[in-house]
Amino acid sequence: MKRALFIAVPIAIAAGWLSSCSGQPIAKTYDLTREQLQNPESCKSCHENHYNEWSGSMHAYASDDPIFRALNKKMLRDTSGANPTFCVQCHAPVAVREGATKDGNNLDQLPVSMRGVTCYFCHSVDAVLGTHNNPLQLASDGKMRAAISDPTENKAHPSAYSTLHDRDDVESAKLCGACHDIVSPLGAHVERTYSEWQSSLFANPQLGKQLACGKCHTEGRSDVAANAPGVGLRTVHDHKMAGVDVALTPFAQSTEQHAAVQVNLNTTITTKMCVRPGRLGTNVEITIDNGFVGHGWPSGAMPDRRAWLEVDASLLGATTFSSGKVAAAQSVKDVQTSDWLVLGDSDYTTDKKLTHRLWEIASYDSSQLSVPVTSDPQDPRFYHSITKVYEVVGDVDKVTMAVHIRPVDFDVVDELIASGDLGAAIRDKIQTFTLQNTVLEWTSSKGFGCVK
Ligand code: HEC
Ligand code: HEC
Ligand code: HEC
Ligand code: HEC
Ligand code: HEC
Repeated sequence: MKRALFIAVPIAIAAGWLSSCSGQPIAKTYDLTREQLQNPESCKSCHENHYNEWSGSMHAYASDDPIFRALNKKMLRDTSGANPTFCVQCHAPVAVREGATKDGNNLDQLPVSMRGVTCYFCHSVDAVLGTHNNPLQLASDGKMRAAISDPTENKAHPSAYSTLHDRDDVESAKLCGACHDIVSPLGAHVERTYSEWQSSLFANPQLGKQLACGKCHTEGRSDVAANAPGVGLRTVHDHKMAGVDVALTPFAQSTEQHAAVQVNLNTTITTKMCVRPGRLGTNVEITIDNGFVGHGWPSGAMPDRRAWLEVDASLLGATTFSSGKVAAAQSVKDVQTSDWLVLGDSDYTTDKKLTHRLWEIASYDSSQLSVPVTSDPQDPRFYHSITKVYEVVGDVDKVTMAVHIRPVDFDVVDELIASGDLGAAIRDKIQTFTLQNTVLEWTSSKGFGCVK
């Protein structure tokens, strides 16, 4: 318990009015000042698990991420600071709203309460005023909002129930979606997780399968929501919110985050591989399907992200065909050929040059796996899988396949190293994940047919 926290002079927060004997309302006071409420360290003593899970999350890392820092610097230079808070409005939202940063160049000097997507930011939201680029409105009443409708009174802060925070209410997708959807300064819809979800089966009230973001991304478990007097067991929610990205520099809980990302990815997509006699010798037909993700896959930071399929066919131990082979430190973009199955976006400037710099993207093509939009197999939009046939010359006795993903690929990093915005040491930290249930092997001993 950090005693110092509670010695600070309590201030009245305009919430939780109590009646005095004379009938005049008097403000109930709470221990945490506004400044302390903004500091995640103030929550740790009572919400230790929430704090620990969050502290390793990409939300906590959002303004420490060296690739973010480097890209932000480059953006400010390339655009002569035309739209200086474009990046930090989501990556350090409290700092922007408090006027603590004008452009994200001083993030190092800012206290932890101003960095990343903090407890205070999410838990103060009381309205969503749009669908992209963080139009979230924060209340100034100091109430911490979530989905507990009968919160135990505590001395630190007032509490309140909010539909925007209740994963059992589809409304709550608006809160997450407001940041997980980016329209570039040139009007291109570069990150579309929210709009992908909105178009899906999971957002459609008619189909009875509605699932808000939190249903999949904040798993529930039975525990106390706070280590404080009078608190009983409830369903509490995982704050790791692991996706595909991990910290590239020493950071809290990085082993746990890495493990959570791998576990999620292992069952993200389903695959089938069929090997049959073909025109040139052997046909390898591979289907990858996005049946379970609540949006396209991959999603989010599409300009930087690559997923791809690796296939290898061999006879008597010698490879006769391969596609999607990427060396450990090579970027997919640099080595891919037209027969590869790559899932990602290609982004273009106004004069149709390839770019991944958010601030100059004017249009894009996407080859991501789409999201299920209907549960009716008769509807042509039912299909959310991709099937690819590889025509292999001659006989084979073994075929292997796997799907890999890199949260950020080397082409992005190399450009930043070359421009002097990023240290070269980061190259060794770039991660490649393999989705375990896509690792399949067919051997001729099984006879022609399919493996799953
Ligand atoms: C002195 C202990 C204490 C501290 C410090 C504290 N909380 Fe709480 N908080 C509680 C208790 C007790 C509850 C109610 C839990 C219950 O009823 O199960 C709660 C509930 C909450 C809720 C749920 C509100 C609802 O109605 O759904 C949120 C969100 C929350 N706290 C956020 C925070 C944040 C953010 C911080 C740090 C700025 C913080 N708390 C600091 C004790 C504390
Ligand atoms: C990205 C937004 C976000 C951030 C950041 C965040 N939370 Fe939450 N938190 C939520 C949402 C959404 C819920 C409600 C989940 C539900 O019940 O559907 C929640 C629920 C809670 C609850 C209620 C108990 C529970 O698990 O449902 C507490 C307490 C809490 N958060 C504390 C914290 C603390 C402390 C931090 C920072 C260390 C933090 N949160 C950071 C979004 C966030
Ligand atoms: C204030 C804006 C904001 C809000 C609100 C927000 N996020 Fe995020 N989220 C971010 C940012 C920024 C990152 C990435 C930080 C980084 O990697 O540098 C992120 C990262 C993530 C990731 C990891 C992505 C990856 O590729 O690994 C997941 C999953 C996620 N958020 C889910 C949620 C969910 C669920 C909610 C709602 C409960 C939510 N977010 C609300 C801004 C936000
Ligand atoms: C039906 C379950 C489901 C729903 C609903 C859902 N997601 Fe996801 N999401 C997944 C799965 C599965 C993955 C892939 C595994 C992973 O990366 O953790 C994923 C991945 C992500 C990622 C990482 C990006 C990537 O390339 O994989 C982000 C960010 C994210 N989701 C945000 C959201 C937001 C925001 C919403 C709501 C608008 C949402 N999700 C709704 C299941 C869901
Ligand atoms: C509307 C809110 C928003 C804005 C504006 C925004 N981001 Fe993000 N950023 C996110 C979210 C949400 C994620 C997590 C998505 C994911 O990883 O799937 C993210 C992830 C990232 C990542 C980590 C993943 C990766 O691709 O490396 C970097 C770096 C990043 N953003 C840089 C930037 C830069 C630079 C800018 C400004 C040019 C910017 N962002 C503007 C919300 C935003």
